[in-house]
Parts: sequence; C-alpha cells; structure tokens
Amino acid sequence: MIGYPPELRELIKVVEETREERMEQVMKRLSLEERDELVHRWHPDYRKDTKRPLRIGPNKGEIVYNEIADLLEAWPAEDPDEVDLSKIDYDVDVLVIGGGGAAAAATLWAIYSDVEPDNIVIATKLRFGDANTVKAQGGIQAADRPNDSPAIHFLDTFGGGHFANKPELVRALVTDAPFIIKWLEDLGVMFDKTGEGEMIENAGGGASRKRLHAARDYTGLEIMRVMRDEVWNYGVRILEFQPAIELLTDPETGEVSGALLWNMETGEYTIVRSKVTILTTGGFGRLHLAGFPTTNHYGATADGIVMAYRVGANLRDMDSAQFHPTGVAWPEAIVGELITEKCRGLGAHLVNVEGRRFIRELEPRDVVASAIIRECAEGRGVVTPTGRCAVWLDLPLIDIINGPGTIKRYLPAMYRQFMRQGIDITREPVLTYPTLHYQNGGIEIDPYTHVLRPDGSWIKGLLAAGEVTGGVHGKNRLMGNSLLDITVFGRRAGITAAKIVGEKASKPKISLAHVKRYMAELEKLGIPRTRRAPKILPDYRGKHVLERYINILY
Ligand code: FUM
Repeated sequence: MIGYPPELRELIKVVEETREERMEQVMKRLSLEERDELVHRWHPDYRKDTKRPLRIGPNKGEIVYNEIADLLEAWPAEDPDEVDLSKIDYDVDVLVIGGGGAAAAATLWAIYSDVEPDNIVIATKLRFGDANTVKAQGGIQAADRPNDSPAIHFLDTFGGGHFANKPELVRALVTDAPFIIKWLEDLGVMFDKTGEGEMIENAGGGASRKRLHAARDYTGLEIMRVMRDEVWNYGVRILEFQPAIELLTDPETGEVSGALLWNMETGEYTIVRSKVTILTTGGFGRLHLAGFPTTNHYGATADGIVMAYRVGANLRDMDSAQFHPTGVAWPEAIVGELITEKCRGLGAHLVNVEGRRFIRELEPRDVVASAIIRECAEGRGVVTPTGRCAVWLDLPLIDIINGPGTIKRYLPAMYRQFMRQGIDITREPVLTYPTLHYQNGGIEIDPYTHVLRPDGSWIKGLLAAGEVTGGVHGKNRLMGNSLLDITVFGRRAGITAAKIVGEKASKPKISLAHVKRYMAELEKLGIPRTRRAPKILPDYRGKHVLERYINILY
C-alpha cells in the first residue's frame, strides 16, 4: 500500500478547500466551434509527428498512426512456402476469430439462426473472454425511455463522432439497441435497477439523455460472463492460445476460406477451413500510439487489421484514436488503467493544481482529453511522484452529491482498485491523465457486417464486427457505444454468417496466394524483413533484457 506522500497531501488540501465553491459552479457547454478548436490544438490525433502516409495496399497514400503503418508495411509472421496446407485440421461452416463480446454474440446468433454449434470454431489468442469487453466499466447505451429515442441517440453519436461516422451503421447501432438490452437481460445480465425494479440509467459524455445501462462498474465483465456461459452451454469448440496469423483465400475466386492459426504453446500451425470467417479481434491499445499508456487488455495488437488489409479490405478513420480522458496517472503500478466516465456522470469534477474546474466534465471524450492535456502543457497540472503530469478527479464529491455509500455501491471495482494502492476514493481525489482506450476506425463494413473493399464491393466469405471495424463511431466514440457495437454488430454478423452458410453448397479451396502478392509489393518497396506482423503480443522486455537473453542463447 502506497498512499499519497506529504507533498501531494498538501495539494489535496486545495481540492478540498475549493469543493464547496465548485459545487455551485455551472460549467458552460462548449459550442461545436469551441470543441473543434480545443481538439485541433491539443488532441494527439492532430499532432504532426504521430502519423504518416501508407506506402502499400488498398489505402496507399492515406494517413495513419505510425504504429499502424509499421504493422501494415510489414512482412508476414510465417513464410507461406513453409506452411503445409494439405492437411486441414478443422473444416467448418463458421470460423470466429477473437475471444471477446463480438465473438460471443456472433457465435450465439449464428446458432440461433440455425448453424450447428459443432460446425463453428472460435479461435482466440488468449483465453475466451480475455478481451477489452471485460474491461468495459461504465455501461451500454440504449434509448429506451419515453424522453429519448433512437433518433436522438443517432444525433448524439453522429455529433460525438465529428459527423465522420457512416450513417447506415449508426442507424443500425441505435435502432437495435433497445432489443439488445432486452436480449441481454433475458439471458441473465444483472443491470442496475431501483428497488422498484426499474432500470437505472446514467449520464454519459456527449449524450443528451441518460441512457447508460450499467452493472455497477463492471458492465462488460457481466455481459461477457453471461454470453460466454451461453456459448459454453452450446459446446462450441474454442481454440485458445491460437491466434490467427493469416486469413486463407480461395486462389480461384479470391474469397476468404478460413485462417492459419499459430499455436502459442507448441509453435505449430493449425489450418481452419470455413465457409464464412468472422473477424472480431478488437483494437490496438497495446501498440501504445504516440507513447500513451493504455486501458486495453494484453492482446490488443491490431492483428485483425493486418490480416484483413492483406486480403484487400478498406480501412477507414485510422488517423483517429480514442484517448480516454481519465486514465490513472499515479500510482505507477496502475498507470493507464481506466477510471470510468461513470465517475464524472455521477458528479466528480476535474480540477487543476489551482483547485479550478477547466472543462464541463461530460463533453465528448476527445474534448475532455484535450482540455486535460492543455492544463498540463500550460503548467496547471500536478506533477506526480514519478514525474508524470496529471490533474485531479475529485471522486469524494460523488458521495457528497449522491449520498454516502454511492461509491461503494456503484463503483466497487474502482474503490477496490485504489484501496489496494492505499488511496480511499471516498475521501481522497485521484490523479488522472488521458490513456489510449479505443480504436475509433478500422475495417469498413456494411450494416450486415460484410467487409468492403475501397470500391464498395464485398470480400466474399469475410465478415467483421466490433472494435476491429471502422465507421460506426467516426472520429470519436461515445461512452457506452462500444458494448453496444459488439453486441449489435456481433449479432448481425452471426445472422449474416448463417445466411451465407445456407447459400454456399461447397467449401472453398484454401491458399496463401494473397500473402505472396503482398510480399511482392513489400519487396518492391524495400521494406526490411525484420519488420513482421501481426504482432500477437506487445514486447515490454526492453533492450537490455533481450541482450541478456541472446547472450544466454549464444
Ligand atoms: O468510461 C468508461 O466506463 C468506458 C466506457 C466505454 O468506453 O464505453
């Protein structure tokens, strides 16, 4: 247990002294122009040094984050000539790649739509459930109150995304939402309710109505618990610790026909042939774009983007990333972890070193993150004991505003996370700074989850859902729209997959022909062969550790 050192305790006094006055203050809602100005000046998406144009593939010439360009301008992890494709290990109707909520929803809805459970394989890098889904805290949006409507939810989502979202995807998201909440509740998800049994709905940043349905502050974990149980109940085959490293294609038709998996325990390849492949591999937080820490799980290394790009998928909005405004900035052991937006929804203030609020806390995330970065850059931040810059999140206000016990009741995970570090959030504020949270863009899909090429045609045999896709959230996602995204589009992918299975009489052929074509392009560009993708896992070992390891080996 660490707890605050004396110099920070002194600074906390300023937060306490200004609390009463701040509670009287009404922060102004920013105009669209003011939001844009703030974001353009301070958000990492607008920094000149974070991105570059792509040199290869369907989106050649488009600007993406450097870390993404490094992965797309990289050689395959395997040598296609060394892979024996003559023996198929699993020959199924549907292959689901990924182990989070979108994978579970897609699998369940394929089954509900008449695909046989034993004709489905789920292949995942870590364990089934090791995904960003289980780390989602604050809630899931759905407009199901008389004062709300999918149309208002649409406008909030579209405005929050800087009007860059694909309208037909947003429409699907918001219109399916009330049904999704009902489905999840019927399955057994325990959403927060009043004593009278009415759903409690909270405020989220950028949303003009209270429409966040939560299960305390572990909403994603609760949703995954229930969906995963349901998948287990159907006895679907789940290949764990077997990430897909390449899609397979039919050399004659070009359609996707399965995937090449790599067994992390044995180092062997596994060949899965399928009539339909659904990519649900999640996002890119573990690439630490622009050097930021992340809220993401260990496997979030953008593998799906790499594989889909090599078969010709269009990527969109890859110049944009979501930095959640309130990551932990201290203690160091939990730097980058999420402090849910629900805290601000329940009334916690963001406060600078002078004890002043500097932004309306429920502006869209990119706006709030930009304001925090500005406070630090202009010298109004707090320097942490490990030399980072941060601002305060005045969490004790939650109990003051909503009544004692609110924190322990609605934010139990947050309470425990900080208690373990010697910080009691019912009495003490915490230090916060933006953290890399979400991949706003990704593989372009249509509302039925077909993967699109730049010309709008489908890549046959391939569907995608969840964080790996782009278009739903434009350039900035609103809180609670990610759990909704994975369930809405996971479900749609399962239904579409069943339709394709019903229409496809025979199984396609398998090859790595598209990889060889991609390699020829890499060769022409002179890309160094040491650069490989997909990355599979982040490497935190550091140069000195690698050198020591190499010395032992040789
Ligand atoms: O702040 C949060 O609880 C995060 C939710 C989300 O990203 O949707």
